[in-house]
This record gives sequence, structure tokens and C-alpha cells, in this order.
Amino acid sequence: MCGIIGCVGRPDSTLDTLVHGLSKLEYRGYDSAGVALANGDIEVVKRAGKIEELREALEGRSVGGEVGIGHTRWSTHGPPTDENAHPHTDCTDRVAVVHNGIIENYQSLRDELAEAGHEFRSDTDTEVVPHLIEQHLSGGADPESAFRAAVERIEGSYAVAAVLAGEDRVFAAREDSPLVLGLDEEAYYLASDVPAFREFTDKVVYLEDGEFAVLDAGGWSVTDAAGSPVEKTVDTVEWDPEETGKSGYDHYMLKEIHEQPRALRQCLSGRVEELDGRVSLDVDVDPTAVQFVACGTSYHAAVYGAYLFQSIGIPAQAFLASEYTTSPPPLDDELVIGVTQSGETADTLSALREARRRGAKTLAVTNTVGSTAARECDDVLYIRAGPEIGVAATKTFSSQVVALTLLVERINDDDRETIAALRDLAGNVQQILDESTAREVAEEYYDAGAYFFVGRGPAYPVALEGALKFKEISYEHAEGFAAGELKHGPLALVTGETPVFAVVTGDDELARKTIGNVKEVEARDAPVIAVTDGRSDIERYADHVLEVPETDPETAAILANVQLQLVAYHAAALLDRPIDKPRNLAKSVTVE
Ligand code: G6P
Repeated sequence: MCGIIGCVGRPDSTLDTLVHGLSKLEYRGYDSAGVALANGDIEVVKRAGKIEELREALEGRSVGGEVGIGHTRWSTHGPPTDENAHPHTDCTDRVAVVHNGIIENYQSLRDELAEAGHEFRSDTDTEVVPHLIEQHLSGGADPESAFRAAVERIEGSYAVAAVLAGEDRVFAAREDSPLVLGLDEEAYYLASDVPAFREFTDKVVYLEDGEFAVLDAGGWSVTDAAGSPVEKTVDTVEWDPEETGKSGYDHYMLKEIHEQPRALRQCLSGRVEELDGRVSLDVDVDPTAVQFVACGTSYHAAVYGAYLFQSIGIPAQAFLASEYTTSPPPLDDELVIGVTQSGETADTLSALREARRRGAKTLAVTNTVGSTAARECDDVLYIRAGPEIGVAATKTFSSQVVALTLLVERINDDDRETIAALRDLAGNVQQILDESTAREVAEEYYDAGAYFFVGRGPAYPVALEGALKFKEISYEHAEGFAAGELKHGPLALVTGETPVFAVVTGDDELARKTIGNVKEVEARDAPVIAVTDGRSDIERYADHVLEVPETDPETAAILANVQLQLVAYHAAALLDRPIDKPRNLAKSVTVE
């Protein structure tokens, strides 16, 4: 978690560049923010709160420097206060450090440093790093050696960057936390993620675990843990900087909901043959069984994916990544698929590593080119949704499910109906975006206090996702259930004041059974909101209907999910919640 940025080579605008970069990384954490500039001395400004607070603190101050680093925090060690905000400095205020990750041996290092006379000013694990650098400097090490020596002492996960007084260089290193360099003609950047500097350059270099980088106005270099130079590939980012702006929408989340037709077209592009509808994917997998590992919204896409595999007769199970160690070991030829939009979620990476230790082949289904999951897995399937900034995942869920559907269809030798439905999907989503009455539903129920979401088959993960979206951004209590489970407990909570969202598409056995469950809540006077394609008679039991176009049952639930995204968005907007940055959450969670 947390976002870090560094910049050299823009001496007239170092501060603006850092603050702008932080605003693009705020999705990674927004408890506090700060910057450090090296201008002979080291100047640090940091504040608890969002980047706006930092901007206010900087107003009217002339903070300049040749090089600088910045940080936006999601607290792990110590509450979000000014003192705990990064950058952290040493006793002499000549070293400033930003860090993303967790230093597991920080307590013993802190004890050792305190014993040696170092004074600590924060509760963070990070603060040991500037003191370690200080110690090596005072022992006679040159700045780069002091930085390397400090990093060698820390254990855990880190992307770390430092500036030193009297130095016009930024030093950085990574282990289990993302770090990417941006290369402009005369300026160089480093950041946790590309949007931080995408406005200035599309040329990037992804650092690997164990690598160190040094940036100065004259260039950049990467070395391995032993100090030997590493030949790096310079990649070109394919999306535009505008894709990380709000384009006139009030919130990133709403913009990203509306970007779904384009995201889905991108996901399909070049992967479905024009003439015969055959699916071609650049992945080499043909599993006899599948285990999924994922968290949050991606877990719901994984549950959907497991359903898709089961529907073609391939045994599949979805595991919460954080619970994977207690799962049965994968069988021979079983594929373990990590679904992770960021490709950096610590729980998911750790489950994928466990799968590899157990001898399984792994596939990453991710949005992020060059992410740790993409690099570490045996194979990768990109969902191509484009950057997603809103903490609540929307378009990445749809694109994950579509990417998994493509995978299943390729293995299944291409079911024509599903392929046709995939081709229609972007248009169908657009129709929902144009015609949805979700705002009226939200207006009627936005302060009900408790909400249930139910569905069966592929509508079950959508019920889970509908509830997750609703609770994440509205702060209202919302739960998703398999429709058949309602009567086994949750029904005790249903009153005449509890809106129940029922996802019912098609008119098959699953739909008929869900309607039976809907009658159970209707009999308790609960308001029912049906999300349906109108093929069943659910409307007879519903107080409101959110319509989706008729399509293949495998893809219909994706459409229903778009309606639930809109309901959650409008309810949160009516409740005046900070939709893109819900309290206590972050988009990329890089701690277990
Ligand atoms: C965080 C985010 C969720 C996301 C989950 C998994 O908790 O707040 O929105 O679904 O991480 O993220 P991933 O990047 O692995 O899909």
C-alpha cells in the first residue's frame, strides 16, 4: 500500500511534479502525504489527511529543489498523524526516506538504533531506514553505499526511495512492492505506478525484486543486489494520460462505470476471429482442474470464473487468497489462476507463490502490464481495462469476467451463443448506461440502513459484488447471499424496511428457484428490486425493476452487475460519501 514518487531533472517544477504525481497515486492510500526536496539541505513538508491538506500546507511556501521524493500513506504502523506521515528523516535531517510495504524486522532495528543513540519521531517501521543510512554515512560510507547497506539490513516488503542533503540523486530499491521508472528526455521519475508520471512520458522501466536504481539529471542506472549493472528493457505504455483524468465526471468511479463498453471492446479486441468467432489467446493453458485465488472484487470475478469452468465440466474452485494455505493442494495438471487487477495484492501474490511451491502452474489474470503477478506467474492474461483509479473496482470486474469467459470458451472450443453474447456485451452495457433507472431506486432506498443482494449460479458472485460495492462506498450495511441461503439464517434480519436486490436473468431452473426465494422476502413485506432481463415473471413480485437486455445466461449477470454498480454509486452520492476514496480502504493492498 502507499504511493511513492521521485523526480529529478525538473528543477523549476520539482515540487509541482511530486504533488501532481501523488494526486495520481492517492488511490493507493490517503491517510497522509508529504514531500522532501533536496536543495543542498533537505526540506520536508508532510501532513495528516488527503493531498489537499498537503497542498494547503505548501501554499505560499517556496519549497524548491533539484530532486525530490513524495509519499501518500495508508497506515500500517501508527495512526495517520503528521509525525507518522512520510518522508521520514534521520537525526540530522540530512536523509529523507519514503517507503511502501512492511519492514518486518523494524522493532529489532529500532532497538539497536535507539541503543546507539538515534532518536525516533514516529511510530512507523519506515523510520529505521533513514537512521540506518545516517549510521552508515557517519561510518564513512558514500551515499550510494550507505543506502544499499541500509536496504540490506531490512527484511519484509518494500519499495523505498531516499534523497540526501548535498546530493542531486534519488536512490531507490524494491522487494515485493512495485516500483517503476519513467524516462523523459531530460527528467527521470520513479513511482509505485505509471499514472504518477504518465503525463510526462510513456517510456517506463519496471524494477524487479532485489534491484536498486539511481536517478540523477544525467541519467539512470539499475543494479542487482550484488551491485552489478542490470540491462533493463524500456517499455512503452499504451494508454493516454487523459485516461487517468475524470473527463468531466464527478467521480472516477462514475467515469469508469461508463468506460465499460470501451474496456470490454478492448478486452475482446483481436481475440475473437471476425469470421468464425474462434477465440485465440496468447496463453498456453489446458487445465484438467482449476483453483482460483483472489481478494475483494477480484474474488467475486474468480467465483464467477469457477462457475464458468464448472459449466464446461472442468472442476474449479475459488479461494480467498488470504485463506489459500489451508486449501487442499492442487492436483497434477491443476492450474492456479490469480485474479488481480493491480497484480500487486500481497495476499494474492503470496497465494500464487504458495501454489508454485506446491508445484502448480500459475496464470495471472490482471490489468497491469509488468506487475508482480504478471512477471511471476507462468502465464498472463491481460484484461485490458485501462487504468482504474476509483478505489471501488468496476470496469476491471467486468473485464476480468470477460477475460475468463474467453479463456473458458477457448478451452471449450468456442460456444457460439456465448461468443455472440460477448460481441454484443459492450452495446448491451451501453444500453444500460443510457437507460438505467438506478438513480430512482437509490433515491427511494438510500437511507434504509441494511440491504440484501441475492442470486444463484453466475448471479451469486454478482450478488456478492453488488453488496460489496454498496457497502464500500455508501457505508450502509449490505450483504450478498446465495439466494437459497436466505432461509437458512439471513431471513431473520429481513423486515419491511430491508430492500432486497434479486438478480434473476433467464427463465431456467436457477431463475425459478431464485423467484421462490424472492417470494419468501416479499411475504415479509421487504421491498424487492429485481435486476432482470424480463424473461421470467419476477416482475410480479418486485417493487422496482432494473432492466438488462436479454442475452446468453453466461454473460447476463455481468449486465446485472452494471445496474448494481449504478445503484451503489447513486446511493453513495446521495449520502455525500467520498466515493473515490472510501474511508479505511485503498485500491492496492500490498500488505497481508
Ligand atoms: C483492495 C481494493 C478492492 C480490490 C482488492 C483486490 O481491497 O479496495 O477494490 O478488489 O484490493 O485487488 P486486486 O488488485 O488484487 O484486484
